[in-house]
Amino acid sequence: MAFTILGTGSCLPELAVGNYEFTKFVETSDQWITTRTGIHRRHFVKGESLQSIAVKAAQNALEDADAAANELDLILCATVQGEDISPALACSVQKELGAVCPAFDLNAGCTGFLYALNTAAAYFRSGMVRRVLIVCAEQLSRFIDWEDRSTCVLFGDGAGAVVLSQGNDLLSTRIAADGQRENLNITGEGISGPFWESKRQKRCICMNGREIFKFAVTTVQHEITAAAKDAGLSVDDVDCFLLHQANGRIIESARVRLHQPEEKFPVNYAECGNTSSASIPILLDDLNRNRRLKKGDILLLCAFGAGLTWGSCVIRWNKD
Ligand code: ACO
Repeated sequence: MAFTILGTGSCLPELAVGNYEFTKFVETSDQWITTRTGIHRRHFVKGESLQSIAVKAAQNALEDADAAANELDLILCATVQGEDISPALACSVQKELGAVCPAFDLNAGCTGFLYALNTAAAYFRSGMVRRVLIVCAEQLSRFIDWEDRSTCVLFGDGAGAVVLSQGNDLLSTRIAADGQRENLNITGEGISGPFWESKRQKRCICMNGREIFKFAVTTVQHEITAAAKDAGLSVDDVDCFLLHQANGRIIESARVRLHQPEEKFPVNYAECGNTSSASIPILLDDLNRNRRLKKGDILLLCAFGAGLTWGSCVIRWNKD
């Protein structure tokens, strides 16, 4: 016994920035970005805040689940970094929702949603919870190096959420990490004090894109096969693959290697860019709201990210 998905929600900031805007401050082109990544635009927090988009996504998910905030037993937020270092974003969301349950953040880079689902599964299996809210909210625009054309065009801000209740629809869950592979870092700013001098540089994303690309194409294929097997299924039994929306070429490569049809791989990277942990729950909410999922569909979720971390899970969709 673990969980079933009761509801989904998401929120994208209003400001949408097209590829052309980047040509004004780095040497790039719409054509390069489109052909190498598939991304056309991404959203950035401007009038909103990370907290406000997280709360909006959570409210949408509660509404879709027909659940009240005071029924929640746990709030998990996946985020590379919350609005502040402390308190946790999950506590700010709890306050705004008027919930009364424990709340904490976890950081597994872009794999955050898979880590949160895995953590929630352990709570459900222990019998400690009956309703859990997961919110994945990211504002990577705070860490973008706007002079680095190889990273600044990739990321976007956004939030996605799910409400889970006790049920039997989690068919497998896998998470992993390899801290030796430091191919994506957001190093922190330090503060000098009377007894030391900080040697840290400005805080920004530093990524070896080629290495991550190579890692991602092999890992995604392996994870998908293993997650399906753990669920007692074959890859062909899966109705819908929801992959981390980092780059269209990574998704396409996985699809071709697994001999699966295009319609099983819905995408939204063209409109959102890479929203880190929020990418899969935003996509899931989009599919749910547009009635593209049928009750009984087998969903396979798979992501990779900073850490390096990676993970996957198989869930039966049980909403009408
Ligand atoms: N515009 C124009 N040219 C560019 C740009 C740009 N925006 N960015 C890089 N280039 C140039 C490079 O300088 C290089 O030029 P050179 O050959 O003269 O040196 C050339 O394009 C090719 O660069 P590559 O890095 O080989 O390009 P690639 O095809 O690998 O695409 C990319 C780069 C898009 C970053 C790709 O490697 C990728 O998607 N990697 C995975 C990244 C990823 O998924 N990151 C998220 C991890 S998840 C998380 O936790 C946040």
